[in-house]
Amino acid sequence: MLARSTTWATLALLFSFAARAALAADTPADTPELPAAAPERERIAIIGTGNVGSALGRRWAAAGHDIIYGSRSPEAGRIQALLALTGPTAQAALPEEAVREADIVVLAIPWRVAEDTVQALGDLSGRVVIDPINPSLFTEGRVERGHPALGEALAALAPGADFVKTLNTTSYRNMLDPPADRSITVPLAGDDASAVARVARLVTQLGLTPRMIGPLYNARYLEAMGNLYIYVNVIQRPEVPLEYHF
Ligand SMILES: NC(=O)c1ccc[n+]([C@@H]2O[C@H](COP(=O)([O-])OP(=O)(O)OC[C@H]3O[C@@H](n4cnc5c(N)ncnc54)[C@H](OP(=O)(O)O)[C@@H]3O)[C@@H](O)[C@H]2O)c1
Repeated sequence: MLARSTTWATLALLFSFAARAALAADTPADTPELPAAAPERERIAIIGTGNVGSALGRRWAAAGHDIIYGSRSPEAGRIQALLALTGPTAQAALPEEAVREADIVVLAIPWRVAEDTVQALGDLSGRVVIDPINPSLFTEGRVERGHPALGEALAALAPGADFVKTLNTTSYRNMLDPPADRSITVPLAGDDASAVARVARLVTQLGLTPRMIGPLYNARYLEAMGNLYIYVNVIQRPEVPLEYHF
């Protein structure tokens, strides 16, 4: 227990220095210490081909990763168009096929279908799972929580997978076209430091600044941050949109 929290503290310290130095120098943030076995080129299965899935697929393909989209209709014309935009090595398959050879699985799907989808994906053990889902309920000018702790609930459905909650606190537009100064902070919560380090590298490659926020338990607070982000930017619509920077 002590060893684990020491590892976390060390990683958080290293990471915070790296991110600050990068911001100051206006250069990409260094990633936290990656496990020696982390492949340079990740095989990423992206489940869902909407705003978030297509933005992440395109950007991570451009960064040199292998992308396979998991779609309910992989043969559809819009998916073929997305493959053409993503690059020559990109593929599409049904979700349960897409995850088979993947190192990393991204759940870019609506929260209402997330639990069923994770179960239908089959055995995810050994995979890193990125969860960017906001369980949001829109009611009379409010954004309510559709689930008290969806990130943890999803992880409980996939024993042996390392879940990382992240990328739910900014818009897909910033995943596709981030501000040049890397001013958007993207918090990450996960229990496995190596998995978090691999996902932090992917966040950095998007041009966003990752920041570790401790164990997956904290996913519930990231989900609350996501709802606040949606409330401000979708309901209040201020002239200057809210982006997290800390
Ligand atoms: N939009 C944002 O800026 C943003 C930012 C951060 C986080 N998020 C979160 O990321 C997730 C995806 O958001 P999004 O904006 O990409 O959503 P979206 O544009 O609606 O895309 C969701 C995708 O999920 C797949 N899907 C699987 N089962 C589905 C079902 N029963 N009904 C509808 N779609 C289904 C679909 O892909 P196929 O048709 O190919 O199966 C669909 O394109 C959400 O949980 C959202 O809260 C969104």
